[in-house]
Amino acid sequence: MEDRFGHRISYLRVSITDRCNERCAYCMPRELQEWLPREDILTYEETLRLVRVAAELGVTKIRVTGGEPLVRRDVINFIQEIPKISGITSLGISTNGTLLAQDVGGQTMAAALRAAGVQSINISLDTLDRHLYSQITGRDLHAKVIEGIDAARAAGFDQIKLNTVLMRGRNEDQLIPLVDFAAERNLILRFIELMPVSTTEVLSEENFLPVAEAKRAIEKQFGNLIPEQGFRTNGPATYYQIPGRDQRIGFIGAMTNLHFCESCNKLRLTCDGKLRPCLGSYLEFDIMKPLRAGANDDELRQFFLDVVERKPEQHDFRESYQPNRKMIAIGG
Ligand SMILES: C[S@@+](CC[C@H](N)C(=O)[O-])C[C@H]1O[C@@H](n2cnc3c(N)ncnc32)[C@H](O)[C@@H]1O
Ligand code: SF4
Repeated sequence: MEDRFGHRISYLRVSITDRCNERCAYCMPRELQEWLPREDILTYEETLRLVRVAAELGVTKIRVTGGEPLVRRDVINFIQEIPKISGITSLGISTNGTLLAQDVGGQTMAAALRAAGVQSINISLDTLDRHLYSQITGRDLHAKVIEGIDAARAAGFDQIKLNTVLMRGRNEDQLIPLVDFAAERNLILRFIELMPVSTTEVLSEENFLPVAEAKRAIEKQFGNLIPEQGFRTNGPATYYQIPGRDQRIGFIGAMTNLHFCESCNKLRLTCDGKLRPCLGSYLEFDIMKPLRAGANDDELRQFFLDVVERKPEQHDFRESYQPNRKMIAIGG
């Protein structure tokens, strides 16, 4: 699949739930919305069928996300089917980490994910301060995340990344401690700019901290970062080495990096069966409808191709605010 701008679409992010055991200030409004009714969520069988169709069209990489994907029942049984799909060579998951150390049938959730074929895992962690963590996420689960990170390390994933959303006045003083934390555990740390994808009041200009500023603060401490042109992870981050250390860190400047969309190879499938060609635009197309109306694989393939045809050249976050659709439903 190729869009009108020559992007080859090889990466599908699959959100399997809108539910979450946390309430991050930038993701979910505190006064909780209703969860989607179960019948409005794609079943695992439906999701796997769409992944199969996408794989036939050249998608090789899947990332499972949410909401919090690990709160959905039987998630391991679902995930272990993905690597069996012909053409899928890379499987990752994004999680808040709170459930990774949980026991599932005599092993940790992290070990079960690894055994199910997950190669890379992204864990969200905005602070090392327990109190601040509770403030940001609405839950006192910081210790669980640290345990979860350790469980992931013990499980032997090819790659573990930590994702930190930058918030001025909240976690500015956490940047250096997080860099050190990641170094000690041999994890790739990435700093992400706040994106206007939710309805919460946190997404104001005063709370926005550009990646360039975070980078300057880190350079003040460690010296000039060394760009790593060659290192790509299929994602929109730019990576650097910290001088004098064998440590890689990344920056995801969704708002301030004007080249952000140039290498976009992504499509998103929401848990309620919408295909989104771009995280940062209103466009989404309901594939659940034809799927449940009995479309055959050819028709579903054509649906994907039509969506890719309408993929915009770049996101329009910078021009328009999108208050209607929550990150939790889209899948980050
Ligand atoms: C929506 S979450 C889903 C997976 C999982 N629950 C987690 O927290 O990692 C995916 C990623 O989106 C990020 N995110 C959520 N809302 C955001 C926002 N408004 N701006 C930037 N990143 C956001 C989260 O920090 C997380 O790293
Ligand atoms: S960012 Fe992840 S953990 Fe936080 S509320 Fe959203 S889905 Fe849940």
